[in-house]
Amino acid sequence: MSTNLSRRKTLGLLAGAPVAMRAAASRAAAQGLADIARKAKITYGASAGAVIFDDADYRLLYLEHCRALTTDVDMKFDWLRPAADKWDWGPADRLADFALRTGMTLRGHTLIWNENAPDWLKKLSLAQIRRVFDEHIETVVSRYAGKVAVWDVVNEPFWPGHGKPGGYRTGPWYEAFGPDYIARALRRARAADPRAKLAINEAHCERMDAVGKGIRAGMRRLAAHLQDVDAPLDVLGFQGHLQPQLPFDDARFAAFLRRFAGLELHITELDVNDESFPDSIRRRDALVAARYGNFLEAVLAVPAVTTVINWQLADHYSWYAGLARAGQLRSRRAPRPLPFDSAYGRKPAWFAMARAFGRRKTG
Ligand code: G3I
Repeated sequence: MSTNLSRRKTLGLLAGAPVAMRAAASRAAAQGLADIARKAKITYGASAGAVIFDDADYRLLYLEHCRALTTDVDMKFDWLRPAADKWDWGPADRLADFALRTGMTLRGHTLIWNENAPDWLKKLSLAQIRRVFDEHIETVVSRYAGKVAVWDVVNEPFWPGHGKPGGYRTGPWYEAFGPDYIARALRRARAADPRAKLAINEAHCERMDAVGKGIRAGMRRLAAHLQDVDAPLDVLGFQGHLQPQLPFDDARFAAFLRRFAGLELHITELDVNDESFPDSIRRRDALVAARYGNFLEAVLAVPAVTTVINWQLADHYSWYAGLARAGQLRSRRAPRPLPFDSAYGRKPAWFAMARAFGRRKTG
């Protein structure tokens, strides 16, 4: 089979699985997306959570199509540390072990994010928060040293709506250190595992509205500042939660990417919000696919782009499906933001991605 694993090894991982599933594994003769991406010098993968251990068919999709795996929620601060005196390593360890056994590049997401802080953290004094910050990075990065290849050290540093100087997102870490929390986090992470690549991961940069403009300007200033102060930074991650209902301009986004000399660039959370598209599934899937294709063709023309990660693989496991279940989307229909449908069939988006990888000029 055409995964990065040998067929025997894959079937070993599926040992004990129903016959139908082992048959499905043997059937998977067509190329996986990661194989196609690799020829374009792109590492392709997806985020994953514990569900891959319960849903064997979904797990098989990762084995067939991914060379990289990002932890979706399981390495986040609030998931690792449900209480001040409690660490919950189980789910993160399991994903790390899975990535290691299957030869996937593991991306740790995320060490420091000013959102989703647990209540116990918010109740601490600033001095205590500073101690937790250092301890957290040291403990988590050391535990996964040699396993996590890339750390999203800081997630989403900017949110101009918070009204802070420079457009920074506020939250406990920002309040404790000011914007210097970013350089501090990078230095601590480097000290705990000198081999891991260190990334800053940002959202909304693809948007050509005031929010996108503000965040792009922030990222340019931040990258220059981190270089000035010699902070260890290897990678800029751009999430790529594409929002076709908002203004976008792929060529301008690609031009923005070209300005980051000396850094690797990763597309880290790719999906397409289909809320503004028509109800017809055929039409909707075609528009989602077109969005994937156009976006990828523009960004893949940037030589520094080395990695593309989808945020989950199949529609019903998307975070949009979670929002839909919680009644937080405008439409009541099931979102279709990803390359696979809920029966694990390849959607037009899959083929648009494969085409974009196939067309990349390398070398
Ligand atoms: O699993 C619990 C479940 O037990 C509980 O009953 C239910 C009730 O709300 O919540 C479930 O947890 C939810 C979890 O997703 C499930 O995976 C949390 O409430 C919900 O907050 C959490 O949302 C995650 C969100 O980040 C916040 O951490 C999404 O799954 C995750 O996909 C999303 O990922 C973010 C990236 O980290 C950063 N970029 C944007 C991206 C999408 O929002």
